[in-house]
Amino acid sequence: MPPDLLENPALLQQLAMQSIFGCFERLSEGTIIVDRRARVVWINDRYASRLRVDPVRAIGQDVEAIIPNSLMRKVVETGEPILLDLLETADQTFLVMRMPIRDGQDQVIGAIGFALLSHYESLLPLFAKFSALQQELATANRKLQEARRTRYTFSSFIGTSPATLEVKRLARRAAQVQASVLLHGETGTGKELLAHAIHAAGPRADRPFVVVNMAAIPESLLEAEFFGVSPGAYTGADRRPRAGKFELAHRGTLFLDEVGDTPLPLQAKLLRVLQEQEFEPLGSNRVLRVDVRILAATSRDLEAMVAEGRFRKDLYYRLNVLRIPLPPLRHRVEDLELLCEHFLDRSALQHGTSSREISPEAISLLRGHAWPGNVRELANVLERAVMNTDRSRLEPEDFPEIPGGVRRPEEDPVRPGPAIAPPAVVDYRKALAEAERRILTLALEASQGRVVEAARRLGIGRATFYKRMAALQMNSKIRDMSSI
Ligand SMILES: Nc1ncnc2c1ncn2[C@@H]1O[C@H](COP(=O)(O)OP(=O)(O)O)[C@@H](O)[C@H]1O
Ligand SMILES: [Mg+2]
Repeated sequence: MPPDLLENPALLQQLAMQSIFGCFERLSEGTIIVDRRARVVWINDRYASRLRVDPVRAIGQDVEAIIPNSLMRKVVETGEPILLDLLETADQTFLVMRMPIRDGQDQVIGAIGFALLSHYESLLPLFAKFSALQQELATANRKLQEARRTRYTFSSFIGTSPATLEVKRLARRAAQVQASVLLHGETGTGKELLAHAIHAAGPRADRPFVVVNMAAIPESLLEAEFFGVSPGAYTGADRRPRAGKFELAHRGTLFLDEVGDTPLPLQAKLLRVLQEQEFEPLGSNRVLRVDVRILAATSRDLEAMVAEGRFRKDLYYRLNVLRIPLPPLRHRVEDLELLCEHFLDRSALQHGTSSREISPEAISLLRGHAWPGNVRELANVLERAVMNTDRSRLEPEDFPEIPGGVRRPEEDPVRPGPAIAPPAVVDYRKALAEAERRILTLALEASQGRVVEAARRLGIGRATFYKRMAALQMNSKIRDMSSI
């Protein structure tokens, strides 16, 4: 390097800048300069022809008139460069780089933009990937919106057994009125799912659905949870000001889950709010009026609790205006197959794999289980089975946790063996019906749905078999099976 240049750093800097500019200008597909009001000052011929504009007529126009998606105005306004970005014009994508131009006093007086290298072969895969990803994103967004819209409708409550249809009929009716609803059923029977669907099908659907789980919140915090803590109040460490669930649910629905776990003192306060639709946040003397619809759920026997004095009778009547009993899964084993399909599809969707099937033998094993955790337990059992095997079709041995699990094929499935779990119901008649239903089902399945064969295996007549099925409301079963 000539020594005179080293002694003249200002000149060196100027030459460096010229070189960089020349370099970029040669490499780039286009160069554009705008003034501090983002009007085009200069555009090179290559860019103009790419953009199909007249380079002379472009001068003085707002940059967006030439390049609709341009961010040059942002660069001028913020003074910040945008070093790498993709710019989409009507028919092509450019890799662009935009920098502010400053005067001697460091004031932004304009900006320069380079549209780089879109003609470079090596960048083509990148551009292709970009547009593919964009399309995927658009599709995913559409699906997400659809999923959000349909998430909590009655159709997401799966099942076609008479018991399930009755639950859905009651729930549809509940959606049309404003009265309180008490959902009663064992854990995992779908109380929360149904409460959500009732809310979503009613006139409050666009307003919030707020859940309070009485069993999950420590007693000392429940009051603040419901009524909120006023900003003006004396506040301890755990009492920061915040809105209570009643306020959050205003004009919407408040779902009181495990309402049987509500401590007695709070029951009195709740009752007052439900009657008067107004309350005072903790530490305030302001009265808030709310318009809230109440749905409540319990897995406990509230009547017994009332009788024992552990649940207020007046609150019970207030909540129990409409009552929807949710039957346990073992009382509607007809739904089991549909539920399995539903959860296997859902799991496939979540894992991005294709959906697993489930063999009739595995279904019949699952039918025999008592399902104390109901649909939630079924979902978990299926999820574990899917995780533990790569097989596309789930077999009985994929459910080692189900009692009476792996059955040797030569064993007669009709013989009351471990596959027929003891019915977990207390009522004698119900228990008998349950056991009989299982025996008929197992016989049918062992006979590929042929009633004559199933009856023969059990040593009874065909007419008797049909009569027992009808008595046990297994008619759907006959229809299902007759096509096999
Ligand atoms: N009939 C049903 N169809 C589809 N999924 C169900 C059904 N019942 C319950 N589930 C699912 O089982 C799980 C437990 O349901 P949830 O409503 O929380 O039960 P609960 O509140 O009665 O304990 C949830 O994942 C729910 O979506
Ligand atoms: Mg629940």
